Amino acid sequence: MSPGATRQDADGIVTLIAAAGGEAFVSRGVSRTIIGLVGDVTRFATLNLKSMPGVADVVRISTPYKLVSRENHPERSTVRVGGVPIGPGTLTLIAGPCAVETPEQTLEAALMARAAGAGLLRGGAYKPRTSPYAFQGLGEAGLRILADVRAETGLPIVTEVVDAHDVELVASYADMLQVGTRNAQNFGLLQAVGAAGRPVMLKRGMSATIEEWLMAAEYIAQRGNLDIVLCERGIRTFETATRNTLDVSAVPVAQRLSHLPVIVDPSHSGGRRDLVMPLSRAAIAAGADGVIIDVHPHPERALCDGPQALVREDLEELSTVIDTFAPLMNRLPA
Ligand code: E4P
Ligand code: PEP
Repeated sequence: MSPGATRQDADGIVTLIAAAGGEAFVSRGVSRTIIGLVGDVTRFATLNLKSMPGVADVVRISTPYKLVSRENHPERSTVRVGGVPIGPGTLTLIAGPCAVETPEQTLEAALMARAAGAGLLRGGAYKPRTSPYAFQGLGEAGLRILADVRAETGLPIVTEVVDAHDVELVASYADMLQVGTRNAQNFGLLQAVGAAGRPVMLKRGMSATIEEWLMAAEYIAQRGNLDIVLCERGIRTFETATRNTLDVSAVPVAQRLSHLPVIVDPSHSGGRRDLVMPLSRAAIAAGADGVIIDVHPHPERALCDGPQALVREDLEELSTVIDTFAPLMNRLPA
């Protein structure tokens, strides 16, 4: 739809398509509204949709994912989280504790992140763990800690929601909802976060193809939310030298197939503190729109993923790398 299209214009399209026996999915981004049509395209062709009020263009999408495709939305998108942009021309650092453990730990990690130039604070209040005996997160108490730290530091927060029943609660605290790798094809959760009215960071499933990743994003977009950030966090391969295998090629491939921003998680991919910087450099050189990094003031005491957390002295090098690369990357075509 045209930038000036009204909600009434969009409703008119939805009504017309329903009368023609089809379905219309309205997805609203910051700057654009896209209406995905599903049904008999030969019937749609008789409706002269392009002459309808507010319609900018009508395009046939050949890819299985429609709303998130570059074919449908040629220019790359920028997603704003609490006013912080993630997208072309940015190199956004998201950093914070893997898990919210205490107010003191979370605040110290957030101050470390902000000092390194982070635009957003990450922190898990609901933790998906392989073992039911491992730390599961503080739940709403963790969300309250994150909200307090946001008030103290000014950093908008991104935090994971694990169960669809918690979406409304988590969305009431978070500036961006995170869907983890283990939930990347939890279609009920994807649909719930798509309708929650918050930007979503969608981790790639550890065994998902890029097309499956984009189809998962389509579930979110179909519910009306185009503010989606894709996060490559490493995939499961035969290699065991690293926790996961960072698929650097996924950055340019996903950026060419979809208009959505693509960031990289060097912490969960490598799984080791000493790999975070090399993998961050690789991600930035490949054109990632940002990186998301675990930090912890005392990783040896961390309740989750301590071995991959950066400490204060690491962050000085990271911010230097970002400050050095950002101006260069912004000049290169995506
Ligand atoms: C992410 O932070 C996950 O909760 C964490 O990496 C899970 O690790 P585990 O499966 O070893 O518990
Ligand atoms: C996380 O970032 O806290 C997390 C759970 O990561 P992943 O889903 O990539 O394992």
